[in-house]
Amino acid sequence: MTDYSDLVQPDKGQDARTIHLVDKKSYDGWLKGRSARERAHLAAVGFKPDAFVHAILPGDDPERWAIVTTVADVNSLSAWCLAKLAQILPEGRYRLEGQQPGKALFGWLSAQYRFDTYKSNPPVKGGRVLLTSDVGAIGPTVAEMRAVALVRDLVNTPAADMGPAAIEKVAERIAKAHGGKLTVTKGEALEQGYPMIHAVGRAAAKHHAPRLIEIEWGKDGHPRVALVGKGISFDSGGLDIKPASGMRLMKKDMGGAAHVLALAELIMASGMPVRLHCLVASAENAISGDAFRPGDVLKSRKGLTVEIGNTDAEGRLVLGDALTKASEAEPELIVDFATLTGAARVALGPDLPALYSNDDDLASDLLAGGIDRDDPLWRMPLWDGYAELLETDIADLGNAGTSSFAGSITAALFLKRFVPDGTAWAHFDTFAWRPSAKHGRPKGGAALGLRAAWAMLQMRYDRRKKGERP
Ligand code: BES
Ligand code: ZN
Ligand code: ZN
Repeated sequence: MTDYSDLVQPDKGQDARTIHLVDKKSYDGWLKGRSARERAHLAAVGFKPDAFVHAILPGDDPERWAIVTTVADVNSLSAWCLAKLAQILPEGRYRLEGQQPGKALFGWLSAQYRFDTYKSNPPVKGGRVLLTSDVGAIGPTVAEMRAVALVRDLVNTPAADMGPAAIEKVAERIAKAHGGKLTVTKGEALEQGYPMIHAVGRAAAKHHAPRLIEIEWGKDGHPRVALVGKGISFDSGGLDIKPASGMRLMKKDMGGAAHVLALAELIMASGMPVRLHCLVASAENAISGDAFRPGDVLKSRKGLTVEIGNTDAEGRLVLGDALTKASEAEPELIVDFATLTGAARVALGPDLPALYSNDDDLASDLLAGGIDRDDPLWRMPLWDGYAELLETDIADLGNAGTSSFAGSITAALFLKRFVPDGTAWAHFDTFAWRPSAKHGRPKGGAALGLRAAWAMLQMRYDRRKKGERP
């Protein structure tokens, strides 16, 4: 396993190769300061200061080569501007000439993530180490990277090895490591207390029993923050079975759980002064003679009755009960993460989580956090006008909209019914997956919205960063 703390080290003047950063504006001035040999080399390879282009600069001594790379703006480095180099350079130590990596440190680490648990002969690759004299940035950036790597690992792991019991084990490890209290509700107690989580997981109960996994941590006097995650270990769609193409990636339907567990670990490891309540509603949405059916009516923990219009709209059911439980402790803030709808992907594509919130300040802090971390979000409306799409003939509400319009909005409106008016709440409908690689971000499991939410929490609760808007 990669130890990300090995990949960034305090700059104590160690031997390292130099990376020169240039942009369109600074290039000509920079070029004037190069040796005749370097200038001739750059002219010969046709180097132009276009974004993400790089070249090797030969040194007088063959061992002393350096790198020049182009970025959009040398004075404002993005998270991803060094990511390509971190993927392709030979192993060894590097330092930036005349500046610190800033946000690009994260991309440097992120680019070196690998998931080769299931490869018989994984390629052996050494690390590329970046030196920085901004030593204060090292710990927090490594912590964020570990959180992102945890999300990727959990999502990438096949459903056979990442069922509700395995998700519970991850929560147990995190709780133990940081002095949190773990509570797991399953079996008869789940059926009584969380009827919708039980109903969704019932078909797989024999081998992959559904459960509510809770971690509590922090001092009672501190502001209560609840994190709620959708932990469907595999979503076959249930009796409303998905087509093969739609089912192929459904090991990732616990992506919301992965996000909140990683966030919980960030909070606990940093000692943030909050009273944390992390809830993961975990079940496999399978098919058996005992499966819940279209047309069934479930009585939720909150008491609202829900008519099942489609067994594939299972995420909102498990979240409904978990949100109810979270609300009972009267938190000042609830944040949920869920791979909730295909409609959110149709609207925003894979890169942009849909953000819903009943609180404008919270939404704006999250959007600002997303910009700060290069972890973008897009706010969508909790448009009450569509609430009628959740009406049914025989119950308080239905779990699937009566039309296929506004599928992500109606899912969010369903969740809203389980959040008390006046409690600040944010809902992330995220993909937790990257269908193709981008610099520093491999194909596969992806943390999308995690670092934006972490930035928001730091802005609101971290003693050092409190009130500091990114
Ligand atoms: N897990 C899926 C949502 C999903 C699908 C996320 C594809 C990302 C990619 C969810 O449980 C689901 O199947 N939702 C249905 C709801 C519908 C039946 C009302 C959907 O979005 O099609
Ligand atoms: Zn589904
Ligand atoms: Zn699902």
